[in-house]
Amino acid sequence: MEKIIPRHVGFIMDGNGRWAKKRGMPRNFGHKKGADNVEKVVSHCFEKGVECISLYAFSTENWGRPEEEVSKIMELFYDFLLKYTKTLTDNGIRLKISGDKTKLSKKLIDLAESREELTKNYKKVLNLAINYGSRQELTSAVNTLIASGKTSVTEEDVKSALYTFDLPDIDLVIRTSGESRLSNFFLWQSAYAELYFTPVLWPDLSSSDIDEAFSWYESRNRRFGKL
Ligand code: IPE
Ligand code: IPE
Ligand code: MG
Repeated sequence: MEKIIPRHVGFIMDGNGRWAKKRGMPRNFGHKKGADNVEKVVSHCFEKGVECISLYAFSTENWGRPEEEVSKIMELFYDFLLKYTKTLTDNGIRLKISGDKTKLSKKLIDLAESREELTKNYKKVLNLAINYGSRQELTSAVNTLIASGKTSVTEEDVKSALYTFDLPDIDLVIRTSGESRLSNFFLWQSAYAELYFTPVLWPDLSSSDIDEAFSWYESRNRRFGKL
């Protein structure tokens, strides 16, 4: 029997801080380990046939963390994008950033936009949610539609004004670290997603953990409101 693989997988990469704490290390050490785990997770998903991966990297609420932690995370994004460029082009992966870029540093915006431009014709998608929040996204979409003169909108109009206008809906959300909540992650796009919560902390998430999530996904009966 042919395997049913989710087309679009969303990861809520949680638990970096707890991973570090368990080892008596500062939170930022956990963020570094977490960033180091991204490449392996992403390649494993693409190898399995996933077309699109969304990674929750920084939420609109994460600005409320200490300045030192926020700036370290921003630095890790920069380093990741720089190092990951070759993987993107070697493997035909399009980089897309979802989120309000205006609050990011010019250096990071320039790098991110140059990588989006460089990879824009590739089919597989790595969608990085940075300074992303669903409420911000939907509010901004509504404002865009109002500014365009619309007084009434369709679902298609809303979808077209989201960061993810050109991506399929999310089929499977995987959240690490044992929390069972969405924390403002792609609420519209995940409306009919299967939700998978694992106690494994993000820096420890392995290929076999992902295979387990995919097997679980395969066993689901997605009815989409029908019988
Ligand atoms: C996820 O790990 C990374 C970000 C939210 C940026 P956390 O930093 O939330 O780790 P915990 O939840 O405190 O363990
Ligand atoms: C969600 O994790 C955001 C990211 C993974 C980037 P948080 O750690 O910020 O979420 P809460 O605070 O546990 O809901
Ligand atoms: Mg957390």
